[in-house]
Amino acid sequence: MKATNIVWHPSKVTKEDRQKLNGHKSVVLWFTGLSGAGKSTLSVEVEKELHQRGIRTYILDGDNIRHGLNKDLGFSAEDRKENIRRIGEVAKLMVDAGIVTLTAFISPYREDREMVRQLLGEKEFIEIYVKCSLEECERRDPKGLYKKARAGEIKGFTGIDDPYEEPENPELVVETDKQTLEESVKQVITYLEENGYLK
Ligand code: PPS
Repeated sequence: MKATNIVWHPSKVTKEDRQKLNGHKSVVLWFTGLSGAGKSTLSVEVEKELHQRGIRTYILDGDNIRHGLNKDLGFSAEDRKENIRRIGEVAKLMVDAGIVTLTAFISPYREDREMVRQLLGEKEFIEIYVKCSLEECERRDPKGLYKKARAGEIKGFTGIDDPYEEPENPELVVETDKQTLEESVKQVITYLEENGYLK
């Protein structure tokens, strides 16, 4: 049952106050792509680089969040939607807290990513398509999941028998099967610098 009689309670310290104290903007870097495309790897390296520059950061990662907050969710379209909705809400809180938040979820549905974009607003949502061919993801197969999916041991695996809807207008496309990790990290950092997020 939905809660009623709830009233938003404002605080006296605003997001802008927190950003000023931190000396930088807060924003969500939304990494999306197939399993094995490199979302987690890239987000970890980007976070490290940002941290070294004195930026306050936090990573929300698919596998980790599914161990806790979202452990009641599976991989049906409905559950993936709810997964992304909750992450979007958490990311919004983190942005309000003044943190540069990196998220690494397959987030296969355009509509769900659009929902998060609307929730955060254009300036605070940077969609980064971690692009990698299915062939290469399958070749990497870091967790052996593609092999299991091909053998029919996992049903509804993204890219095999479940859809991945490519972003149509992402802020960034990082091609992990064509460029080095260092180049990809630089691409993301340069985007943030050029768009005034790091000051
Ligand atoms: S989603 O689609 O955004 O809700 O998925 P996400 O929360 O990012 O979780 C993806 C990780 O779960 C593992 N896994 C699966 N992925 C896709 N399809 C199916 N059926 C599935 N079952 C388990 C897999 O390890 C994903 O991790 P990554 O980091 O993407 O490889």
